[in-house]
Amino acid sequence: MKKDFLCLSDIASDEGWEIVENALRFKKGEKNSNILEGKVVGLLFAKPSTRTRVSFEVGITKLGGKALYMTSSQLQMSRGEDIRDTARTLSRYLDGIVIRTYAHAWLEEFARYSDKPVINALTDFSHPCQILADVQTIYELFGERIKEIKIAYIGDGNNVANSLIVGAGLFGLKLYVATPSGFEPNAKAYQLGLELSKQSGGEIVLTNDPVEAVENAHVVYTDVWVSMGDTNGDQKVQFLKPFQVNEKLLKHAEENVKVLHCLPAKKGQEITEEVFEKHKEEIFLQAENRLWVQMALMDKLFGEFFRS
Ligand code: CP
Ligand code: NVA
Repeated sequence: MKKDFLCLSDIASDEGWEIVENALRFKKGEKNSNILEGKVVGLLFAKPSTRTRVSFEVGITKLGGKALYMTSSQLQMSRGEDIRDTARTLSRYLDGIVIRTYAHAWLEEFARYSDKPVINALTDFSHPCQILADVQTIYELFGERIKEIKIAYIGDGNNVANSLIVGAGLFGLKLYVATPSGFEPNAKAYQLGLELSKQSGGEIVLTNDPVEAVENAHVVYTDVWVSMGDTNGDQKVQFLKPFQVNEKLLKHAEENVKVLHCLPAKKGQEITEEVFEKHKEEIFLQAENRLWVQMALMDKLFGEFFRS
């Protein structure tokens, strides 16, 4: 495994499945690890977070380590210290660093100058830890059928959609992504997903028609229409209205469709309160799985790094 986990394409398909299997073993209490004993992992966040921050802090503690949370506004980088010097300094103190920021290029530059592993906790381009938890969740719900079922993502072509596409390629999933015209996922993520699908047998279809995507889907996934840092929120919401996950849209799906949402949700926009409450079991299972899958990810990443 590489030193850093910045994108799902940083891991091989068998490594991805190993992480998901180990996440389930951690969850069932069949696996324990103290790989972070005596180690300190930093969390550097430039955006708010509930799930990612807390699940990483708890996961690091359960692996025997200590988490150190920092917001970028408290560091000298808020006064102009450059990325390279921040990375070279922090990696002298810390054993690894989990970063949530805006530009993906910022994260990549930080990782280049950090001697210690860097984990992507969300950028404007991607959210790979989220998708590991989503794959674990779908695997828990559908077992070995995971590669046969139809998964539909409905809404904005954002960071979560981009990573879901790369994840579908890596794990060999059948994914339809419906977004309004002009709000499609990132072209690079789509190309990456298609490339990976050639090996894995995955199928990725982009459409502007939410009904085509939801038709006979087993899983319907959505995320907020306005992401952190988006500046064109009001305009976007108008285009996204036909992409709301509501009872009417879900009538096109399989009878026992599962609905996923990475959270936080803006009820009344991308999802109705009614649909959200009806599907709260799978939505909060998905939130819980962030903890287990990130423990499995860190166990593997730091295990290989410390041995190297
Ligand atoms: N899904 C997710 O990353 O949630 P937070 O923004 O609360 O971390
Ligand atoms: N797309 C959302 C995901 C939040 C977890 C955002 O970037 O704000």
